[in-house]
Amino acid sequence: MSYSIKGNEAYKALRSFREYASSLYHERYRFPYLCGSYFAYRKIDVMRVVAVAKSISSQPRYLDVGCGYGDFLQKVREFIPNAIGIENDNIFYNFNMIKPDYIYFQDASLNIDDEFDVIFVGWMDPGIDFRKNVADKTEVVITTLDEGISLAAEYEDQGFQKIAEWRTPSWEDMNIELMNKYYTRISKNVYRQLSDLRGAHNLWYVYSRNPQNFQRIRASLRDCSRQELSVSSNYNFESIMDDCGFGYLEQLSGVGRKIKLNKLWEVTFT
Ligand SMILES: C[S@@+](CC[C@H](N)C(=O)[O-])C[C@H]1O[C@@H](n2cnc3c(N)ncnc32)[C@H](O)[C@@H]1O
Repeated sequence: MSYSIKGNEAYKALRSFREYASSLYHERYRFPYLCGSYFAYRKIDVMRVVAVAKSISSQPRYLDVGCGYGDFLQKVREFIPNAIGIENDNIFYNFNMIKPDYIYFQDASLNIDDEFDVIFVGWMDPGIDFRKNVADKTEVVITTLDEGISLAAEYEDQGFQKIAEWRTPSWEDMNIELMNKYYTRISKNVYRQLSDLRGAHNLWYVYSRNPQNFQRIRASLRDCSRQELSVSSNYNFESIMDDCGFGYLEQLSGVGRKIKLNKLWEVTFT
C-alpha cells in the first residue's frame, strides 16, 4: 500500500463506517473528500452549471478550481467533455487513487494557466483566497459557499455582478440529518424536533462581469427551471436528500430562523 498515513486513517474510518452503514449512499455525505463532495447536489445542479457554460459558448472552456478528486467534475464532463480541474492537494497520492488526466496538480493561489469561459469554484477553504486569479482568467464564475464555514466567496469586489443564486444542503447538513436519523439513539419525538431545525447552508452564486452575458445566463437558468418541473432524471444518491427532508423546492421550516429562506433549489435572479 502506498497511500499516506492521512489516507490510511481516513480509509480505516470509511471501512469501519461501511460495516454498519444502512445505505450505500450515506458515505458520500459522511466522507465528502473521499467519496462525495462538500456541496450536496442533484443532477439539476449539474444541468444548470452546464447550461450556463453553454450559454456562453457551444463548446465552453470549463475549469473546476479545487475540484478534489473530481466527483462533480466527472458529472459535468458527461456534457462538456473537455472540462478540466485543478487541485493542489496530494489527494490522489494520499488516497491511493488514479489521477484522471483531466485533473492537473496546480496551486490556484499562484497561477491559473489559460483563460476559460466559465470557472467553477466549489468551496474555498478558510484562509485561502484565490479569487483574483480566478477573476483574471474568466468572465463567468460559478461558486458555492457554505454559510459560516467556507470563506465567503463573493466576486463583487472583483468587478463581477451576481446574476442568480440558489440554495442546497451542504455535506454537513446532510451528515447531521443522517446521523440523527440512522446512527444516534434518540426518540422519534426528539428526532422530529431536531429535524424541524435542519438548515441548508450551501449557496450557489453565478457571476459575470460582461453585461452581454447577463441575459443569456438568466435565460439558460429559466429554461432549466422550466424543464426541471417535467423531467425527472436524477442520480441514485438523490433519494438520500429526499429522505433527509431536502426535497426539490422544499420549504424549510421557519423555526429558529429570523429570515424566511427561499425554497431549496429555487433560482432567484438579482
Ligand atoms: C472543501 S474542498 C472542496 C472539494 C470539491 N470542490 C468539493 O466540493 O467536493 C476544497 C478543495 O480546494 C482545494 N484547494 C484549496 N486551495 C487550493 C489552491 N490554492 N489551488 C487549488 N486547489 C486548492 C483543496 O485541496 C480541496 O480539495
